Amino acid sequence: MRQHVNPLSSNFDQIEKIPSLMQMFDDPKLNLHLDIGCAAGDFLFDLALSNTHWNYLGIEIRERLVKTAKSKVEEKEIKNLSFIFGNASNIINDFQSEFIIKTLKSISFNFPDPWFKKRHYKRRIIQPNLINILSTLMQKGSHIFIKTDVRDLLDYMDSTISSNLNFKKIDNKDLHYSDSFNPNKLQTNREKYAILNDLDIFESIYIKI
Ligand SMILES: C[S@@+](CC[C@H](N)C(=O)[O-])C[C@H]1O[C@@H](n2cnc3c(N)ncnc32)[C@H](O)[C@@H]1O
Repeated sequence: MRQHVNPLSSNFDQIEKIPSLMQMFDDPKLNLHLDIGCAAGDFLFDLALSNTHWNYLGIEIRERLVKTAKSKVEEKEIKNLSFIFGNASNIINDFQSEFIIKTLKSISFNFPDPWFKKRHYKRRIIQPNLINILSTLMQKGSHIFIKTDVRDLLDYMDSTISSNLNFKKIDNKDLHYSDSFNPNKLQTNREKYAILNDLDIFESIYIKI
């Protein structure tokens, strides 16, 4: 399976119809967390099973992974987890998704593809336009979580988010993890790999003010 997909390819211009919260979750009133670039969704399965009073939604650009994840949700009859296939940037930009972004309590970008070459920076998921949409639609008090093992990417994401005055960086110690989407501090697959291989992990948390 291809590891890197060019998100700017016209293959992703069309986005699938976004189901309503009622269609996606058993109890649409629960807090909602969105994970961008969730791969096969292992992290979200762990979260959804361990934290049943939150709803979890993953967006992933590799269609086969999303198909498998959706089948697994059905098979295991998990009621607080859902997946959407596509380029997250196009999905978040689409009017259909407004209700999702307005409902979010938090959004995570875990180990996004770094796209190291300067001419590929525009393929990075975090872009000023995406952050502007999030800042317009997300509720006050909602959070953005970013995590990476690439220092330059952290700096790039941090400066992009911090340039938007509606988001303020907060200290980890000021976050009440018990109230967050990840109270047990579960790890993503890339995070487990980074820990196993002794790589540095950089993370930042922002609050919408
Ligand atoms: C390095 S992997 C990290 C996976 C997972 N978040 C983790 O921490 O283990 C990045 C993931 O983001 C997905 N991705 C990259 N660009 C994307 C985009 N524009 N929209 C949705 N998913 C994207 C990739 O297909 C890949 O699964």
